[in-house]
Amino acid sequence: MTSLPNLKLIITLWLFSCFVGIGSAELDPNFYLTTCPLALATIKTAVTTAVLEERRLGASLLRLHFHDCFVQGCDASVLLNDTDTLTGEKTAFPNANSLRGFNVIDNIKSKLETLCVGVVSCADILAVAARDSVVALGGPTWTVGLGRRDSTTASLTAANSDLPAPFLDLDDLITAFSKKNFTADELVALSGAHTIGKARCTTFRSRIYNESNIDSSFAKSLQASCPSAGADDKLSPLDSTTENIFDNAYFKNLENKAGLLHSDQQLFNGGSTNSLVQTYISDPLKFKKDFANAMIKMGNLSPLTGNEGQIRTKCYQVN
Ligand code: HEM
Ligand SMILES: *[C@@H]1O[C@H](CO)[C@@H](O)[C@H](O)[C@H]1NC(C)=O
Ligand SMILES: *[C@@H]1O[C@H](CO)[C@@H](O)[C@H](O)[C@H]1NC(C)=O
Ligand SMILES: *[C@@H]1O[C@H](CO)[C@@H](O)[C@H](O)[C@H]1NC(C)=O
Repeated sequence: MTSLPNLKLIITLWLFSCFVGIGSAELDPNFYLTTCPLALATIKTAVTTAVLEERRLGASLLRLHFHDCFVQGCDASVLLNDTDTLTGEKTAFPNANSLRGFNVIDNIKSKLETLCVGVVSCADILAVAARDSVVALGGPTWTVGLGRRDSTTASLTAANSDLPAPFLDLDDLITAFSKKNFTADELVALSGAHTIGKARCTTFRSRIYNESNIDSSFAKSLQASCPSAGADDKLSPLDSTTENIFDNAYFKNLENKAGLLHSDQQLFNGGSTNSLVQTYISDPLKFKKDFANAMIKMGNLSPLTGNEGQIRTKCYQVN
């Protein structure tokens, strides 16, 4: 009988730690279960509707989450507009004239603010919308941990330094991703996101006119819409075979020297990542599994939790 009080004490401490969350700032898939039970369904409906209207929006929403997480962590800093007192990230070189999908996020946010005031963060909306986008285009699903909070700051400098440029060679891509604790294998898996969406002429012009590791008829067909000067914003699909389907065609293109960006083709150019590209060609399920796991890891990049940051009322401005 002497052990009974101890057992009670242990159970009490355990219950206490569950509710207070001692020693952990981990994200929790059930974070909104009682505080906003319709949050996930609301986001899914809005994303699915948007993607049905315009398939590319799925790609744009996936990229928003990436550009959020690589800069100060997944804190919705990417969504903040410039004001007199805050410099946002939207004018950074990788973002300007390029990021899109902001309206979808703003619309989701206003629906959620009607449903449950001040509860669901913009950073969580980005993470869930990215997952729902991939699913809507035929890709894998994964469980999104929740409970991120929104930043009150942004960093134009970090956006310019931490987001990889399409002109990087393999070594520099590996370094850029290792700074965020990703392996070279995870770089390859995550780059598979370029199985959907589009890029502007200015991001691949030097590749299609000057590089030799490119299929010549592929290069020619791109040159028709992307002139050697001007028309910077002319779009071409990142995956020339199935631009709206989340499949492994991106990797098949690389094997055929038909990667659109210099950085894409770097993953299959005789270097250390060649073999994983081939694995993803022969084993599409492994690609989807690895991609999903790497997305979970990306979504865990230094989130604000607990009392840190805030829950923004509007995603484009600090409260
Ligand atoms: C490996 C380094 C990466 C580089 C150098 C890179 C670079 C780029 C560039 C230059 C574009 C076209 C932007 C434009 O023309 O305006 C683009 C588009 C895109 N990127 Fe990446 N990216 C990388 C990794 C990723 C990752 C990790 C993801 C997501 C997990 C991602 C998702 C996308 C998507 C979905 C698009 C198409 C967006 C749209 O159509 O709106 N990228 N990327
Ligand atoms: C925020 O900035 C974007 C351009 O980045 C602009 O289109 C939008 O109207 C701005 N939103 C508000 C509410 O000022
Ligand atoms: C990478 O891991 C190290 C060691 O665990 C940690 O200190 C650092 O904050 C991590 N970097 C990011 C961007 O999460
Ligand atoms: C191709 O490379 C040459 C020599 O480096 C450069 O002058 C030219 O501007 C490049 N062309 C394009 C379209 O990038």
